[in-house]
This record gives sequence, structure tokens and C-alpha cells, in this order.
Amino acid sequence: MRWFGSSQPSWGRIMTVALAGASTVRAVQLDVEDADSIKSAAKEVAKNMMTYYTGYKPGDNPGNLPDPYYWWEAGAMFNSLIDYWYYTGDDTWNDITMQGMLWQAGDTGAFMPNNQSKTEGNDDQAFWGFAAMSAAERNFPNPPSDKMGWLAMAQAVFNTQAPRWDDSTCGGGLRWQIFTWNNGYTYKNTISTGGFFNLAARLAKYTGNSTYQEWAERAWDWTEGVGFMDSDYHFWDGASDLTNCTEINQIEWTYNNGVYLLGAANMWNVTSDPKWKERVQKIIESSSIFFSDSPKNVMFERACETVNTCMVDQRSFKGYLSRWMAATTQMAPFTFDLLMPKLKASASAAAKACNGGTDGTTCGLKWTEEKWDDTKDFGQQMAALEVIQSNLITKVAAPVTSEDGGTSGKPPEPKPSALSYTITTADRAGAGILTAMMMVTLGGSAGWLIWD
Ligand SMILES: *[C@@H]1O[C@H](CO)[C@@H](O)[C@H](O)[C@H]1NC(C)=O
Ligand SMILES: *[C@@H]1O[C@H](CO)[C@@H](O)[C@H](O)[C@H]1NC(C)=O
Ligand SMILES: *[C@@H]1O[C@H](CO)[C@@H](O)[C@H](O)[C@H]1NC(C)=O
Ligand SMILES: *[C@@H]1O[C@H](CO)[C@@H](O)[C@H](O)[C@H]1NC(C)=O
Repeated sequence: MRWFGSSQPSWGRIMTVALAGASTVRAVQLDVEDADSIKSAAKEVAKNMMTYYTGYKPGDNPGNLPDPYYWWEAGAMFNSLIDYWYYTGDDTWNDITMQGMLWQAGDTGAFMPNNQSKTEGNDDQAFWGFAAMSAAERNFPNPPSDKMGWLAMAQAVFNTQAPRWDDSTCGGGLRWQIFTWNNGYTYKNTISTGGFFNLAARLAKYTGNSTYQEWAERAWDWTEGVGFMDSDYHFWDGASDLTNCTEINQIEWTYNNGVYLLGAANMWNVTSDPKWKERVQKIIESSSIFFSDSPKNVMFERACETVNTCMVDQRSFKGYLSRWMAATTQMAPFTFDLLMPKLKASASAAAKACNGGTDGTTCGLKWTEEKWDDTKDFGQQMAALEVIQSNLITKVAAPVTSEDGGTSGKPPEPKPSALSYTITTADRAGAGILTAMMMVTLGGSAGWLIWD
């Protein structure tokens, strides 16, 4: 993600002139108590969102959004489309999702394409990892059997990030940037460590492997110890490691709250340890700063919305808090009554903010205005989609795990011929990591056969 400085120019009202006064053809209607209404509102908003994406067209790059949208946001988009399919059953964009995910995952499955090495941060990589993790948790259709599976991709992201855990400064944590030559390498930030925490906790839940659980504990403890989260559970942005993370940049973003919320909820689900229940509760309490009093319970990005300085990345953040709040109600059912009123009110307001543009389905940034605010942007369109479809959470099954319904990482037909084909592919590629990953897959499938 880009730098969240305070000296950034404020962004103008995009497309105001072009779209103002245009007659409205359709409008997003939403009754949050009615599943069909939620589905059709989600579809309208998603259709509009997909007008930004051209990566599936011949000659274009699968998995990239055009300028000014950065690579990571495409990963976030595929996560929203995986969620969309899971919530609505509509598979309109599944093929596009499969294509973009496989292309960007690359041979190692770790979402580290050469094209992105100039800019890729740990947080950017994590957002693609979340998409793969969601695909595994939701039993999204699996990639073809000669390709790496969703679980293996999420694990590949984890396996590249764990060795980047850096004790040399600040007592640990992940740096924002992966590569030394990038601006931001000396910055340790909450979303990078939080992304790793979130993924570790979900892998712990999915696989039952205690190594992930230990990493999640460590990431949480460090975040708290270094002061990136204060005693009232406010999550700050991060700090430079040149001063050993002592001067903390105290900006609060919705997505930092959300990324720790879902991680903590998974840890509660895995451990049943009251300390995790308390953490989930406290994060929800501290999230109240992101919800307005009037209209009641409507989410807003307080660090930038009220002063009109939300940058490209930031316009999408409310979508992640929404997405992770909904998923939290499944992993920690005791949160349901705390979170649903906020998801309902925010979705209703967001739908009213989505009546813009010539097609009447363009979403504004500010849900609290309860009408279109004359702006148009990919990220805010995605955020509205997430909060609207999140209201279907009561209609869908809880995430699967490897022991309970999960199909990712399990070969559909574990026949000897399929296995030898896999080995040949790995040998030909000659990639050490790929081979190692395949060995894990083979070990897993043999165990599965015996167990079965
Ligand atoms: C990297 O960029 C080049 C040039 O734009 C493109 O041809 C190629 O497909 C890209 N690779 C990936 C993995 O996106
Ligand atoms: C740097 O910060 C860490 C974590 O707060 C602390 O444990 C360590 O002692 C500090 N190092 C120095 C040199 O101050
Ligand atoms: C658990 O995960 C770790 C990290 O990927 C791996 O090294 C270890 O072998 C796994 N353990 C089991 C029992 O699968
Ligand atoms: C863990 O998640 C499952 C699935 O949603 C749920 O049924 C169960 O109650 C959760 N466990 C705890 C301890 O909340």
C-alpha cells in the first residue's frame, strides 16, 4: 500500500461534472431483512465494480486493475468476489476470479510476481493471501488439479512471511516493505503484522496445526508490547524502526481494527481461551469510534472522510472491516448481537449512497450522508459491496476446515496416475519451493487416504 502521510493532497470530486444531473436509470434498493433484496442490491453494486476490471480481456494482465489502483487492491477485489459467490450463490465472476488468482499466485503460489517487486509490501501480499484463505474456507471451486490449491497458496504466503519476522529492531514484527530498496523498508506497520496475524489464526483454525497458533500468539503479543495497540485496544498505524518504534504514528484505520478482530475471533474459536474472548470484545468496543451517532451505527473512515483526504487505498478500507465483522460472527457467535446492528445500519446507508452515476448504481464514499456524494471510485464500490453482502451472513454455512468439509489441499481423485503427473510437473519446473510444497501435498494426501 502507499504511504499514509498527512501531507498528501486531498482528492477532488471525481466525475462530478460528468455525472451530475444525469437521469437515474436504476437505483440500488435494499431491505436488509430480505435475502433476495440483499442479493439483488449486491449484484447491482458488483456489476458496477466490475466495469473497472479489464484483466480478463485478451492482451490485458489477469489480476491487475488499471491506474490508479495498486496491485494489492485487485487481490482484495477477488476476495470480495469469492465472498460474493459464497453469499449469493451467483457464479458470474468465478472464472474471472480463478484466472486472476492463478495468474498472480505464480509457480510458488506465494503471490510474489516479478512485476510487483518494485512495490510489493507484506500487507499487499497478505491481501492476496486472504483471498486464497477465503477460497479455502468457503470451498470456492478448486483450481485444476495440476495447479496449486487455495490452502497451499495461503500457506505459501505464510511461509514467506514467517521468515521475515524481524527481531533486529523494535523487538520483532514485520516490516512494511519486503525489499530493502523500497521506501518504507524501515517502517514497521500494524497492517503488515496484523495481516500475518490474521492469516496465521485462520490457518490454525483450518488446519489445526499449532505452529500457526504459536505465530498468531507471537504477533499479537508483539503488537501489544510495542504499543501499536494501546491499552484501550486502539490500533495505530505503525512506526519507524530507525528509532526502535518509539515514535508511533497514531492514525487509526478501520481495516487495522478489522484485521485483528477476525484473527482474534479465530483464536477464540481454536482455543476457547477466555483471554481471546476478552480481546474480541475489547476490539469491538474500540471500533465504536468508526461508527456515527447520527445516523446511528453507520461506519465511516474517521481519519480521512470528515476532512476529505481519503487516498485511493483508503477508500476501500471500510469494506474490510465489514467483511471481517461478518466473518467474526461465525467464529465467535457471542458477537452476533454486537455486530449485526452495525452491519445492518451501515449496509442500509451504503445502499442509499449507491444511487449515483448514469446507471444509478455508483457508490459514494460517505455512507453517513445516506445519499450519493458525487464521487466514484473502485475501492468505495467494493466497500459498499462488502457491507451489503455481509448481511447474508446468517444464510450461509460457517467456514470449513480440513477436518470438516474443506476440500482445498485434498486431491479430488487421489489415483496413482494423478500423483505421478504432479511429480513430473514439479520436476520439470525444478523449483525448490514448489517441490517442497508438493511433498507436503503428497504427504497430506497419503494421510488422507489412510484416514479415509
Ligand atoms: C508482467 O508485465 C508484463 C508487461 O506488462 C506482462 O506481459 C506480464 O504478463 C506481467 N506478468 C504478470 C505475472 O502479471
Ligand atoms: C527496542 O524496542 C524493543 C521493544 O519495545 C525493546 O525490547 C528493546 O529493548 C529496544 N531496544 C533498544 C536498543 O532500545
Ligand atoms: C505445521 O505447520 C508448520 C509450518 O508450515 C510445518 O513446518 C509443520 O510441519 C506442520 N506440522 C504438521 C504436523 O503438519
Ligand atoms: C466456532 O465456530 C463454529 C462455527 O461457526 C461455531 O459453531 C462455534 O460455536 C464456535 N466456537 C466458539 C468457541 O465460539
